[in-house]
Amino acid sequence: MKEREHSTELQFFICCNDKPKGECCSPKGALDLRSQLKDWAKQNNLHPKIRITASKCLGFCSEGIAAVMHPQNKTYVNIEGKHLDEIKKLLLEESRKLEKEDD
Ligand code: FES
Repeated sequence: MKEREHSTELQFFICCNDKPKGECCSPKGALDLRSQLKDWAKQNNLHPKIRITASKCLGFCSEGIAAVMHPQNKTYVNIEGKHLDEIKKLLLEESRKLEKEDD
């Protein structure tokens, strides 16, 4: 194993897991949310500074849609499509904080 540096500054992992039984994030609109955020990041030239990534189960199935922000190590649950603008604002704010830390 080798540690590798990469240019991504903020990564937002959205659980898009689809389990055959029990609660999970995919049927709650996770794929659509991820797709909309990914398109927004690309259209606004934020990618790869802000990277939107699908993940498997994050361990908060009954509270999904769940997401984790890296490197902030913040977890978000009960996300719904109506939170799209709020998430965009949050990602921009957190990305700017990271830029200031680099200065
Ligand atoms: S299925 Fe999304 S957190 Fe478990």
